[in-house]
Amino acid sequence: MSKRFSQSCENNKQPILEQLKPRLVNQRHLLEIGSGTGQHAQFFAKHLPHLCWQTSDRPDNHPSIDAWIAELNLTNLRSPLSFTIGEDNWPNQPIDTVFTANTAHIMQSEEVQIMMGLVAEHLPLRGLFLQYGPFNIDGTYTSDSNREFDQFLQQEGCGGIRDIAELERWAKGLMLVEQITMPANNLLLVWRKHC
Ligand SMILES: C[S@@+](CC[C@H](N)C(=O)[O-])C[C@H]1O[C@@H](n2cnc3c(N)ncnc32)[C@H](O)[C@@H]1O
Repeated sequence: MSKRFSQSCENNKQPILEQLKPRLVNQRHLLEIGSGTGQHAQFFAKHLPHLCWQTSDRPDNHPSIDAWIAELNLTNLRSPLSFTIGEDNWPNQPIDTVFTANTAHIMQSEEVQIMMGLVAEHLPLRGLFLQYGPFNIDGTYTSDSNREFDQFLQQEGCGGIRDIAELERWAKGLMLVEQITMPANNLLLVWRKHC
């Protein structure tokens, strides 16, 4: 499997970048969990040159991520780590920021719980976790299309759309500091390590 393309990444990369840019000015070492095709990583690393962008995912996604990385000669973009939540240990390298897009509704609920716990445990004090995707608020879908999407996800065996309150319970030591409304019924959650 070589270079893959995602139309949703193409659609959401610019709005996400606009939110990442001002928030990542002082950050230096970012880990992306679930880099998928590798499209986001290439685009964000190109536009955030002060930041080292470390990709990661399950091994079957690595050829596509590497193909996107190989297209541009970016010194701040790193080849993917094998990092499957629930199986692998936290990467042994400096990380002050974590980014993940569209992973929490794909993972099983136990895996999301582990992800929130690992990020909370390993980020340094004041480190940032930026989490993009569809989320429920106070047990409610934010749109009819998210409700339909959730039914589809569960039929496909994915964990489904998670509630923000549930994520907060699992993320002991992280404070949800911003909840940014994004296009297409998505949110960008900004978490900061506070203790
Ligand atoms: C819907 S894709 C999103 C990919 C990309 N971030 C994007 O926004 O297009 C979900 C990603 O989560 C990854 N994923 C699923 N379960 C995972 C786990 N347990 N640990 C790490 N990554 C996982 C998949 O391999 C896939 O790359």
